[in-house]
Amino acid sequence: MKKKEDIAVLMASTECYPMAKVGGMADVVGSLPKYLAHLGVSPSVIMPRYARPWFDKNPGKIIHDSIIQYPHAHHPFRIWQHEDSDLGYELYSVELPGLFDRESVYLAEDGHGYRDETIRNISFQRAILQWWHSDPDSFDLIHCHDHMTGLIPFLMKYSYEYPALRQKPSYFTIHNALHRGRCSWNNLSLLPHFDTWKGGLLDWDEAIDPLASALRVSDGINTVSPGYLEELPREAQGLEWVFAHERHKMSGIINGVDYDVWNPKTDTLLPHHLKKSIHSFKRKNKAELTASFAEPDLPLFVFIGRFAHQKGVDILIQSIDTWLNHHRDANFFILGSGDKSLEHLAGMVYGKYPQSVRVVFDYNEPLSHVLYAGADFLLMPSRVEPCGLNQMFSMRYGTVPIVNHTGGLKDTVPDITVDGNGLSFDGVQTDQVLNALQRAMELFSDQKSYKALVEKIYKLDFSWEASAKRYVDAYKQLL
Ligand code: GLC
Repeated sequence: MKKKEDIAVLMASTECYPMAKVGGMADVVGSLPKYLAHLGVSPSVIMPRYARPWFDKNPGKIIHDSIIQYPHAHHPFRIWQHEDSDLGYELYSVELPGLFDRESVYLAEDGHGYRDETIRNISFQRAILQWWHSDPDSFDLIHCHDHMTGLIPFLMKYSYEYPALRQKPSYFTIHNALHRGRCSWNNLSLLPHFDTWKGGLLDWDEAIDPLASALRVSDGINTVSPGYLEELPREAQGLEWVFAHERHKMSGIINGVDYDVWNPKTDTLLPHHLKKSIHSFKRKNKAELTASFAEPDLPLFVFIGRFAHQKGVDILIQSIDTWLNHHRDANFFILGSGDKSLEHLAGMVYGKYPQSVRVVFDYNEPLSHVLYAGADFLLMPSRVEPCGLNQMFSMRYGTVPIVNHTGGLKDTVPDITVDGNGLSFDGVQTDQVLNALQRAMELFSDQKSYKALVEKIYKLDFSWEASAKRYVDAYKQLL
């Protein structure tokens, strides 16, 4: 129930779990608001209405019906409110016929991004602003997530279409600065009229660059870990200068985990729940996964995630290949999908070592939970990892993470040699990964130390409590 003194925050995002998830951004947008709701914030989320089962089951009601005026056409849109959901925050969806009534969030059938990405993102953002402008007092500030909503801060301040929003603050979270949503200036006519003197704030390197614009125009910004914040002024594909220059309004706030969902005692996706002992919890769940391996009791290493260069999947698979070529003392389970050439590589390793490797090409939430619970080690050789949630899910279920020392992985998984939470290596190369595997095997053979580590990490606190408070402080500073 909203109280008068609550800060009314509108979160704008193209992903939100459980309605539509591609990566960790969905987990964050789907859980942070629940925790904000206990801290004097009245949170709402607005997202596109995809052709996805959740929306069939929870249609909601239409509260706004309008058009976006483009120079030679106009595009109808409708805002739906999903009142009776038990999500823990208000949910609104934007229906944009022809643009978002698709099941896949970003990728076309050929595995590449949709070719109409630019008009999709612009229409989504214009629809949000038009609707908000029809009742400007309904929200005190907007909180945007990644480049897909990166033009909103600029349009609020400098477009002539939304004068009542000009004084409203905007806050921006960077989940991943590798994607910027750049498009050519030929798309200019898709934007509503704005103060052309300010047009430079949309531009970076002779293109419209939504991320670069959001960095310069938003009133407050955070990255999803302090480690990542530190890296960006040194390495940001040409945006280093902007990161350095805007540093004064940026902070690093580590993501939390939704402990209502990620609870080993109650997780409905697990075949076996945690009762008394974390070790028997792991043993039983592991047995669900390894029955078909030649030697089910060997240490089980898993990878869960998108098959993308960023995630280091190429190096991971080469390392597994080399390892199994020399030793047959470990099992590997890989779950994920994405880049077809990486899928091909993974398929080849399975073909070579069917007794020790399992590969499932899928985005599969239920299986991922069993893997977090049943694995002995989680591999995360990400080249870049703004925060990373998988290492936190895995620790919650007593699985030891093995990570590259970068971004949020650096913050959450210090190495055991410094009394940390897992194994950390420096640089995504096969030698580094093989060395980490060697260390993991040694640790596992010393069951006393291994079990002590498992007991330590499953009790660590990665909940939202502390981080949600930092978001509230950031909002307060803007108001
Ligand atoms: C992106 C990042 C990941 C982060 C997530 C949620 O997916 O790549 O590191 O955890 O967003 O913020």
